[in-house]
Amino acid sequence: MALISEKFNDALNAQIQEELYSAYLYLGMSYWLKEHNYNNLGEWYFIQYNEELAHAYKFMDYIVETGGSVKLLALDSPKIDWKNVEEIVNAAYGHEQHITGKINDLVILAEELKEFAPRELLQWFISEQIEEEASSSELVNRQKEFHNDMLFDHHTHRVSGSTTSEE
Ligand code: FEO
Repeated sequence: MALISEKFNDALNAQIQEELYSAYLYLGMSYWLKEHNYNNLGEWYFIQYNEELAHAYKFMDYIVETGGSVKLLALDSPKIDWKNVEEIVNAAYGHEQHITGKINDLVILAEELKEFAPRELLQWFISEQIEEEASSSELVNRQKEFHNDMLFDHHTHRVSGSTTSEE
């Protein structure tokens, strides 16, 4: 018998859709920024795009490991007609808060189902969301403080796996 219940498997497939949509959203942000010559910020969101793919893979691997079935659900087109950098950093922070809510829902569902196998996986995502919210809200604050988006871009760097840094 599979370690994963059908209900939790369905919920994880929905979360995979959320993570892949997050990737798609950040990819769109990345290329809007690159098109408008905010290359460092564009790179920041490109790294974020890859992180979201890694989140989706983590859920997929768990499903396979516990004998479930991965189902890839359709993705909507993300918003791409951004007004400015401020709108992007605010939307990214709002999106991460939305994802934190989704992870919390999974924790609640696992408890309701008395499904204990995903505890470690969910704990990893709870901690990850603390980082995701911290790094995205940091960008919101930095964008406000700089008062100049080209300068903000110039002083914003990110290498894979780390948060924002200043020169
Ligand atoms: Fe996968 Fe940014 O949450």
